[in-house]
Amino acid sequence: MKIGIDKIGFYTPHLYVDMNKLAEARGVEPAKFTIGIGQSEMSVAPLTQDPVTLAANAALDMLDETDRAHIDMVLFGTESGIDHSKAAAVYVHRLLDLKPEARAVELKQACYGATAAIQLAKGHIALNPDSKVLVLASDIARYGLNTPGESTQGAGAVALIISANPRVLELDDETVYYTSDIMDFWRPVYSNTAYVDGKFSNEQYMAFFKQVWEQYKEKSNRSIHDMEAICFHMPYTKMGLKALRQILDEGNEADQQRLQDHYQTSTTYNRNVGNIYTGSLYLSLLSLLEQAENIQSGARIGMYSYGSGAVGEFFSGVLAEHFRENLYLDRHRELFAERKEISIAEYEEQFVKTLPTDGSTLELDITKDPASICVTGITEHMRQYTNKNK
Ligand code: CAA
Repeated sequence: MKIGIDKIGFYTPHLYVDMNKLAEARGVEPAKFTIGIGQSEMSVAPLTQDPVTLAANAALDMLDETDRAHIDMVLFGTESGIDHSKAAAVYVHRLLDLKPEARAVELKQACYGATAAIQLAKGHIALNPDSKVLVLASDIARYGLNTPGESTQGAGAVALIISANPRVLELDDETVYYTSDIMDFWRPVYSNTAYVDGKFSNEQYMAFFKQVWEQYKEKSNRSIHDMEAICFHMPYTKMGLKALRQILDEGNEADQQRLQDHYQTSTTYNRNVGNIYTGSLYLSLLSLLEQAENIQSGARIGMYSYGSGAVGEFFSGVLAEHFRENLYLDRHRELFAERKEISIAEYEEQFVKTLPTDGSTLELDITKDPASICVTGITEHMRQYTNKNK
């Protein structure tokens, strides 16, 4: 049975900053951010968006009645969850009007959570071929104002439906994974910004890639020639390129050119959104599928997932026959076109705003947020949500 990605949707908040202006404000050469890091714009989440609403907005428009009838599992990958106990998946399950006969769970392992979710979903579909699983990958990446990681922040979510006979990407059975307990990036429960050993995290990202790539070749008997493209977890767009360069000499000139060209295309959305942690790999897949005109059904795409701490996985899939007809290119084009640039001062003001933590009530003004699903406020420690279309 073929199992894989049947639908893929995306959402990012309507506010962003220009990385040239962030560089100027920080007294850094703009080329460091736009070329050295490889980021042009960075999405900023207003208080009316959190990982729950970002995920719900990513899934909302792509679900139809058939999906609603068959989704019996919601898996939410995040490392910026809003509650230590209750799963973000449960809120999204209600906001999307999914049937109650369903499992709803949150998964955490840094930027790897959604990949674990996809592999668990695959097993569930193998046992229950009529089921569909909604996988959500949603995060707001925060390192802090004026920190080395600041230029690699971002906000957004990717929503995937995993099913039998998928219309976008059929997952191969061979998948390989690797775990090692390291401290390259982490966020203690008392902190709302991440701690990171930047250089070490870069080194480990690259070392894990080499490790799982070797494992994958051995297990699958495939090589670089079999890969039309490789998509990478993308904390910033230069990172994946550094990893790719480690293996390029395994291919001939045509392989090298193809993989580098597709890599550039796969950075299109990430370059303008920033790091969305668990969703980053799937945002780069979406960029490739929606922006590459020269990619055909039947082509094999490699996928490198990396979650600091750390777990790495390499897996692959084959593009379904009419995959292009099952994408939402116009919707995503519109989403980018309607975003609004904010100044660095506005971004800094936004960054330090938080919901009250003392049990008091705060009602937010959602009229300026174009998203359908918003946080409307908080009362007695309970976040309030609304779907404006209902
Ligand atoms: N023009 C062009 N390039 C320039 C430049 C200029 N004027 N000035 C500097 N550069 C280049 C540098 O040469 C460097 O390029 P290379 O890496 O290719 O050598 C690049 O810009 C970055 O410069 P620095 O290394 O000096 O940057 P930094 O130390 O200030 O910060 C960082 C970089 C460590 C990645 C930091 O942004 C960070 O800590 N980010 C968060 C951690 C992260 O994203 N790690 C990635 C792996 S971990 C992971 O993937 C999980 C996850 O999502 C977090």
